[in-house]
Amino acid sequence: MAMEWTDALSVGHSVVDSQHKGLIDRLNGLVAAVTQALDDESVGMTQVIDQAAAFFSYFEEHSESEEAFMRQLLYTRVDCHAKHHRLFINTLRTLLIDDPNLNAIKINMPFIESAVIDHLERDDRDFGEHLRTLGLFGTL
Ligand SMILES: [Fe+2]
Ligand SMILES: [Fe+2]
Repeated sequence: MAMEWTDALSVGHSVVDSQHKGLIDRLNGLVAAVTQALDDESVGMTQVIDQAAAFFSYFEEHSESEEAFMRQLLYTRVDCHAKHHRLFINTLRTLLIDDPNLNAIKINMPFIESAVIDHLERDDRDFGEHLRTLGLFGTL
């Protein structure tokens, strides 16, 4: 099932929120490509590899950008947050980039989806709480 961005996921920072929407779009693109490849073997791995690379590079770029905003806005948990990003990026690199395998990606898709949603709902929204305490939520 496709993931949807809702206001409940907002961190109150317009650039971060729009990047999160882009991230969910790319994740849904990957899920769709995996589903299609499993349904029709002739589709092969080409689309899966393309969508996997698009999702991976977007996540990596978004993480850098989000960490920069966090540092700029003196979010004290940025180092721990960045470690979560790095850990997930390394897992994604192994699964999606270094040796993409349809079965392994299929098996790990529920983990990838729940890890993304948990990170957005819990870790990224904690940054939103920080913006709230600064009176900046929804103003940037
Ligand atoms: Fe994050
Ligand atoms: Fe994020």
